[in-house]
Amino acid sequence: MNISDAVRYVGVNDYDLDLFESQYMLEKGMAYNSYLILDDKVALMDSVDKRGTEEWLANVERELSGRKIDYIVISHMEPDHSGSLADILDRFPEATVVGNAKTFAFMGQFSDREFTNQKLEVKEGDELSLGSHTLKFIMAPMVHWPEVMMTYESSEKLLFSADAFGKFGTTDADEDWACEARRYYFNIVGKYGVQVQGVLKKIDAMDVQKILPLHGPVLTENIDYNINLYKTWSAYEAESKGVFVLHASIHGNTAKAAEELAQMIRDLGEERVVVADLCREDLAECVEDAFRHDRMILCCATYDGGAFVPMEDFLHHLQIKGYRNRTVGLLENGTWAPQAAKSMRTYLESMKDINILPETVSIKSSVKDSDKEAMQALAQAIYRAGE
Ligand SMILES: Cc1cc2nc3c(=O)[nH]c(=O)nc-3n(C[C@H](O)[C@H](O)[C@H](O)COP(=O)(O)O)c2cc1C
Ligand SMILES: [Fe+2]
Ligand SMILES: [Fe+2]
Repeated sequence: MNISDAVRYVGVNDYDLDLFESQYMLEKGMAYNSYLILDDKVALMDSVDKRGTEEWLANVERELSGRKIDYIVISHMEPDHSGSLADILDRFPEATVVGNAKTFAFMGQFSDREFTNQKLEVKEGDELSLGSHTLKFIMAPMVHWPEVMMTYESSEKLLFSADAFGKFGTTDADEDWACEARRYYFNIVGKYGVQVQGVLKKIDAMDVQKILPLHGPVLTENIDYNINLYKTWSAYEAESKGVFVLHASIHGNTAKAAEELAQMIRDLGEERVVVADLCREDLAECVEDAFRHDRMILCCATYDGGAFVPMEDFLHHLQIKGYRNRTVGLLENGTWAPQAAKSMRTYLESMKDINILPETVSIKSSVKDSDKEAMQALAQAIYRAGE
């Protein structure tokens, strides 16, 4: 796959990986992207996960057609990108490694071997000419790690965006960009919205024609769409108006209550009500949907004096990913001493700008006709919060 005459894709698709970062389910594999720029000087942009070393080296050699690498630019030291670095440095010991001060500190931590390569330490705004192509380095700390930097190539207006704008799935996966880019963003970068906003401001000042991320497809068309979604996500604004109803139920009664509540909200005229079973659906997908919608209702069984464990786990994830600025309603279930709402509220109160509706519903074992009034009140409160 060529990006242009001079810029070649040399990354690899990993069709067999089960879990990315040992926790994110992959339905369509993962791509570790890497690019080669062929000019008077040759620059290689990042390496790949060690799972793809051999294929990547073959791709690099094929596109080089006998030429040598002058520069190896490192955007990110996480092993899904630096895992094959030693192999390329061994093969091209005369190549200069380009990174920032933190990149080189991390390189030393991941390996105690001595590299003989020259190092070129760059900082914000530094430029490196390859001939007709010029690389400009843009620091992007905490988008996803502290050493992350992006690179802008001015002649072709290319943005090498590191993990930003990446997604789960191989480059040839036939699927919607936003769905898997959103799950990737909120679970992997979500905590660092402020830093993402900072980089987006710098990107706004540039003329970008193509975005070349470290995961997923190269973005070549309508990139304003991708950039605008990143603006919404990083500002912690809701992308979709609607109610996300999530349930954690042991024997099914809380799930039934959640379905009934969802129907009540639909009956009030709410167009988008999405119900999910926290015990069975992908946790990362639930985290994504919580961030996506402006409102959420959590329905949970009481378990050993607290909320059922999948709900505790989910709320812990929301908390560490920086969930904020949303309206949330609660429904609890318990047989002798319902406590799930109290536990859920404690988590939510530790997050920023969460409007917890006072209309909490507490049911005993299963929904009765006598519970319907309280459920209606919660349905109306969450509906009104979206008006
Ligand atoms: C292991 C376990 C622990 C439980 N702990 C509590 C509890 O501490 N307090 C309580 O009121 N109910 C407790 N329950 C009961 C459930 O919360 C209750 O039966 C609820 O109706 C289950 O809803 P479900 O049908 O959605 O699973 C517990 C149930 C189980 C299986
Ligand atoms: Fe990363
Ligand atoms: Fe990555």
